[in-house]
Amino acid sequence: MSLKNRVVLVLGASGNIGAGAVRAFLLSGSHVIAPTRTPEGTTKLVDFLARTQAIYEPDHLIPVVTDVGTPKGAEAVAKIVEERFEGKLDHVVSSSGPWWQAPNFDAIDYSLYRKAMDANYETHFVVYNAVAKYLLKRDSNPSYTVVTGMAADNLGTGITGLSQLFLRSLTQHLIFQTASTPLRVNELRIGVRVDMDQPGVEPSQEWQMKSSEFGRVFERIAMGSVKGEVVEAVKVEQVRALVDGRTKL
Ligand SMILES: NC(=O)c1ccc[n+]([C@@H]2O[C@H](COP(=O)([O-])OP(=O)(O)OC[C@H]3O[C@@H](n4cnc5c(N)ncnc54)[C@H](OP(=O)(O)O)[C@@H]3O)[C@@H](O)[C@H]2O)c1
Repeated sequence: MSLKNRVVLVLGASGNIGAGAVRAFLLSGSHVIAPTRTPEGTTKLVDFLARTQAIYEPDHLIPVVTDVGTPKGAEAVAKIVEERFEGKLDHVVSSSGPWWQAPNFDAIDYSLYRKAMDANYETHFVVYNAVAKYLLKRDSNPSYTVVTGMAADNLGTGITGLSQLFLRSLTQHLIFQTASTPLRVNELRIGVRVDMDQPGVEPSQEWQMKSSEFGRVFERIAMGSVKGEVVEAVKVEQVRALVDGRTKL
C-alpha cells in the first residue's frame, strides 16, 4: 500500500532514530507531524533533512513545538490531526528518549529517575492515549511502531534498562488490546548503533548505521502487514534485509 498522502506522527523527530523515520516517510510522499520540545529540535531535524538532500513537499513536514510527554502537549498533536487532517492518522513511530548512564538505584537522584521514566516510558503512554482513537478508526492498514533497544536485557544499564523494560511491557499490552482491530502495533527492537548522518563521516564499525539508511525500516513496517511482533533490528545485515524486502514484514 502506497504511503503517498498518508498522515504519520513521529515522536523523537529530532533524534537519531526519529529523524531517519521522518525522512523516509517524507520521501514516500506522506505528511509527517514532527513534534519537538524546543525550536532547536525542529532546526536539528530540518538541517538533517537538508544535508541528506531529502526532496519533499515543504508543506508535508509539520513541525510542532510541544512536549508530547504531557497530556497537554499530546493534545496539541491530536488537535493537528483533527483540524488539519479531519481526524485521519495512519502511522505512528514512537521513538522518544535518550540514553542515561546513571548510578545504581541507591545513589540515583529522584529527578533523574523521573526524567528517564518520563522520556523512555511515560511519553509513549501519553501519546498512545491521545492519538490511538484516530488509528483505530482507519481502514488504511494503520500501524504503531514502538522503538526500543537492548538495554532492558542488560542489568548494567540501570535506569535506562528499567525504563525500557516498562516500554516493552507497555507495547505487549497494546498488542494485546488491539489484537482484534486493524491497528498493527509492533515493537522495533534496535541493537545496532544509529547516528545522524554527518558530512564526510561514514560508519566505521560493522554495528553502526546512518539515520538516513535506518529510517527506511519504518517505511517497510508501515507498508507491510506485520502485526503484534517484536521486529529485531539487531545487526546491520538484518536491518538491510528488512529494508530491501528480503525479510518480509
Ligand atoms: N540511536 C541508536 O543507536 C539506538 C539504539 C538502540 C535503541 N535506540 C532507542 O531509540 C530511541 C530513540 O533513540 P535516539 O538515539 O534517537 O535518541 P536521541 O537522539 O537522544 O533522541 C531522542 C529524542 O527524544 C525526544 N524526547 C522526547 N521527550 C523527551 C524527554 N522527556 N527527554 C529527552 N528526550 C525526549 C528528544 O526530542 P526533543 O528534545 O526534540 O523533544 C530527542 O530528540 C530510544 O528509545 C533509544 O533507546 C536507539
